[in-house]
Amino acid sequence: MSETINKEMIAPQRLRDGERLAISQKIRDAMPGILAAVDRNSGYFGLRFPDAACKEGVYPVIDNQEWTTSFWTGQLWLAWEWSGKQAYRELAEAHVRSFGERIATRDHTDHHDLGFLYSLSCIAANKLTGNREAKYIALQAAEVLMERYHEKCGIIQAWGALDNPEQQGRMIIDCNMNLPLLYQASLIGGDNRYARAAESHIEQARRYIVRQDGSTFHTYFMDVNTGEARFGNTHQGFSDDSCWSRGQAWGVYGFLLNYLYTGDARLLELSQTLANYFINRLPEDLICYWDLALTDPRSERDSSASAILACALLELVKQLPVTHPDRETYEAVALRTIEKMLDGYLNKTHKAGEGLLEHSVYHFKGNVGVDECCAWGDYYLMEALTRAVSTWNSYW
Ligand code: GLY
Repeated sequence: MSETINKEMIAPQRLRDGERLAISQKIRDAMPGILAAVDRNSGYFGLRFPDAACKEGVYPVIDNQEWTTSFWTGQLWLAWEWSGKQAYRELAEAHVRSFGERIATRDHTDHHDLGFLYSLSCIAANKLTGNREAKYIALQAAEVLMERYHEKCGIIQAWGALDNPEQQGRMIIDCNMNLPLLYQASLIGGDNRYARAAESHIEQARRYIVRQDGSTFHTYFMDVNTGEARFGNTHQGFSDDSCWSRGQAWGVYGFLLNYLYTGDARLLELSQTLANYFINRLPEDLICYWDLALTDPRSERDSSASAILACALLELVKQLPVTHPDRETYEAVALRTIEKMLDGYLNKTHKAGEGLLEHSVYHFKGNVGVDECCAWGDYYLMEALTRAVSTWNSYW
């Protein structure tokens, strides 16, 4: 349990004179190419969406049914913020209508990823443009997400029917990122029920998903009848006792976002504990292997996990006092990760239907999206670049 977890020390890193400025310039230089890629993909996807990950370098085009479709919407909102170009906003607003239809017809909505889906589409629309329809749709999505809340053990079940014995009572670290939808629903709808469920879930994740060494289980089972904790295991990681890189990245960012909504300082501390564990296991070029237990340099990278980590570290920099001993290291790691992504992982010969951030892994053992671009990698790359050069108002 996290009361007794070990927070590893990290070796201090300092930004050299002019380094911050040079990386900002590199980001600004890269942005026109990235926006051009978003333009090409807007034409390619039309009113449909990219699949979760590319196949042989190109996104299959799908209807609004995957858990990942809003990462494309999120890219459009960011592109609009960068450029002010109306076409991005219009397409993102068409997506909002698509997400409205999806929740009204309950089309592929029986999972916890409604948070990812409705934060980046409808909450973003409401925050950026005051879109009232989007606000109403987000509230509906939060209500559907609440159906997955198990009162006795206080968690939101990730996958499957609530009475499916293989999935019952399973929470996963990724869910930390789905909880902002519930806090937002309480804020905009005035009913505290959503926030209370989110607070309960994050407390159970804090207690059980984090191991004593500051690593995380990918998934953890609770007994829905007694409320007792059962056991942790993995779905996408290397092994049950390894630390799946993207899960750890969801943890760093997700505990931090939950801190922002609850003010619970233990979550801020936990985010740093997970970050330190992650940073201490980075290869030289700062882009992690797909599991933090891997050390063989021939292992596949998961650049998407590094993009998520960079966003989380930049948010930590915002939250920590300037005197905090690790603050500058977090900033240095985040900015240098961004630099490495732009130098070695950005798709610089982009064609319509391709992704932005190369060399991610969706599910290594399932052989899905291995060494491909993925929808969230592209989104978090753009979020990280935006965070690095502006005081971005978060969609989360
Ligand atoms: N949330 C699922 C994944 O990160 O693959």
